[in-house]
Amino acid sequence: MVSGRPLDSAIAVADRALRAVFAPARSSRPAPGGAAAPPPLSETDRRSAAGLMRVNHTGELAAQALYHGQALLARSEKTRALLMEAARAESDHLAWCETRLKELAARPSLLNPLWYAGSFAIGALAALAGDRASLGFVAETERQVEGHLDAHLGRLPASDARSRAILETMRAEEVAHGATASSAGAVPLPQPVRALMRRTATLMTGTAYWI
Ligand SMILES: [Fe+2]
Ligand SMILES: [Fe+2]
Repeated sequence: MVSGRPLDSAIAVADRALRAVFAPARSSRPAPGGAAAPPPLSETDRRSAAGLMRVNHTGELAAQALYHGQALLARSEKTRALLMEAARAESDHLAWCETRLKELAARPSLLNPLWYAGSFAIGALAALAGDRASLGFVAETERQVEGHLDAHLGRLPASDARSRAILETMRAEEVAHGATASSAGAVPLPQPVRALMRRTATLMTGTAYWI
């Protein structure tokens, strides 16, 4: 946070939130799976893939919001920079999921503003526990996302190679994000906190599949 300039910080926070939720996500790299238009899926497969990719889109938005919230209240500049870099990396993932949703003729979750706001608040709370706990929160988030992506890779229709390529690339990068946080001094989170994070994620992903 820019100390002594709370208005500037509030404007920057609002600007980041509005961009993340309402502006088309910007990617620094093309979506995995090649430039050629992917073959169309059967209606059953399209619906199933669209539900799963909507969940992943919301998950990437929530990850960005968590890291924005954590960065706002980070104690050291080094941790803040690490968190903002993590949020930027999630922006590529968000853009890839957004592109895939369009290809699948599907829309993002209508509740995304709510998920962003809730995740931002959780991120800010995590930051209050100190930088090493906050980095532990990143490591645990990425570990849980990795498990979630494994489950989705098992559930994606076999015909949907494009979504599979996106999720496999995201999975590899989430593992790397977790490792970066761990090597920066993350401390393990208490079991009840990890369980609460899991329950919150289940609520979000269960809802985003449909709404
Ligand atoms: Fe991600
Ligand atoms: Fe990540």
